[in-house]
Amino acid sequence: MERIKPRGPKAPRRPQLADRIELQEQVTELAAQQAAMSEVLRSIANSPHDLEPIFDTITANATRLCRAEVGALIIFEEHGYRLVARTGMADEFYVKGRLYPVSEGAPSARMIKTRSPVHIADLAADQAYHQRIPGLVALVERIGVRSYLLVPMLKDNELVGGITIVRARMQPFTDKQIELVTAFAAQATIALEITRRERQLRQAQMELAHATRVAAMGHLTGSLAHELKQPLSAMAANAEAGSRWLTREPPQIEKAKQSVERIVKDVERASAVIDRVHGLVKKAPPRTDTININDAILEVMTVVHGELVKNRIRAQTQLSDSLPRVRGDRVQLQQVMLNLVINAIQAMSGVTDGIRELRISTESIKQEVRVAVQDTGPGLMTDNLEQLFEPFFTTKPSGMGMGLSICRTIVEEHGGRLWASENEPKGALFQFALPPTSTLDGT
Ligand SMILES: Nc1ncnc2c1ncn2[C@@H]1O[C@H](COP(=O)(O)OP(=O)(O)OP(=O)(O)O)[C@@H](O)[C@H]1O
Ligand SMILES: [Mg+2]
Repeated sequence: MERIKPRGPKAPRRPQLADRIELQEQVTELAAQQAAMSEVLRSIANSPHDLEPIFDTITANATRLCRAEVGALIIFEEHGYRLVARTGMADEFYVKGRLYPVSEGAPSARMIKTRSPVHIADLAADQAYHQRIPGLVALVERIGVRSYLLVPMLKDNELVGGITIVRARMQPFTDKQIELVTAFAAQATIALEITRRERQLRQAQMELAHATRVAAMGHLTGSLAHELKQPLSAMAANAEAGSRWLTREPPQIEKAKQSVERIVKDVERASAVIDRVHGLVKKAPPRTDTININDAILEVMTVVHGELVKNRIRAQTQLSDSLPRVRGDRVQLQQVMLNLVINAIQAMSGVTDGIRELRISTESIKQEVRVAVQDTGPGLMTDNLEQLFEPFFTTKPSGMGMGLSICRTIVEEHGGRLWASENEPKGALFQFALPPTSTLDGT
């Protein structure tokens, strides 16, 4: 206790000073490590959908704390390893995004065999250098790399990647430093796992959204067909009977009239069935939630993140920070946004020239909360924009043509409007407007 007091009354003797300095250094080092670890955790929390900033943070911290010059993070794939993060010089040898083959005898090959860290005190004296493996020769001869460390990223004993750090001087890494890089490698593995699960979850949500709709449609058409079958076949039978009465000699007008009257009754029954089913679908949503549309949109964006990346679409949100809340069914309104966004993604997935940009904005205009979804796809290829909202109208081979029709029903149930227009300079623009809570509540 006494010894680590910053300043004692008596001047310490030299060995004590050295001890103290060493202790102080250790404390500083530990604090730096802890800060680095929390920075990594923070970046995982901030961008659970995007590994790039996480891997960048991990690589930069591992390299800096181990006093190395260059660092990289690699992920193994079927035909080699991909470099996903890099720090320090050596741009031309460590190219982000590039797939590298695993050469026989190279450190990566050794790590694959042993699944443990590969530490080379002097790369210039190593067999891999003498074997003239091109990447390593470049490291030694062009950047002057000497001490080399490659630590595996293991998930359930399966090798998924690794972190490598190198020094442009011969100074072997200490056990503590190897341990530290191992801890960073563990964090990188966890981040990889978290994003993988997130992705699966989002995929499942999207499939569920579609499956629910398909199931609902199946159910609906099933019950419609079932309930309409009876009046329709009665109509056919009565029509046949009616025409038989008319072709009699002499024509039996009174009988034929009865048949026609029965047909009219069946038509009424059939339309009652349709009204009832329509009534079921239109059942008012439980207007219980007070919704912040901006938050609801951001959630939808995380759901479609994977689709946007897959289709190389840049997404922009411009959300007004003075937006009144709306009242309604949060899930249903999110379903509306999801449908509009998915339509936009599908429209842009075929764009080969020009940018693919999705833009979602919110604004409060004329006592309304307005949401706009803009894309840079081919635009609406019809003069009759209302047609788009008709059930079963689709131009997609596997489309059901129900998305927009359902969206409009939901928005109207919420006292709002949904419409389409051409976007400037290209693409489509879908907008919906909802009344803010105060209007609905009369407060
Ligand atoms: N952003 C858009 N850009 C261009 N055309 C669009 C866009 N959104 C919708 N459309 C057109 O409107 C049609 C109807 O859209 P809707 O969402 O109702 O059905 P769908 O997407 O074809 O099928 P699904 O029922 O699976 O959603 C689409 O087939 C497409 O022709
Ligand atoms: Mg659709």
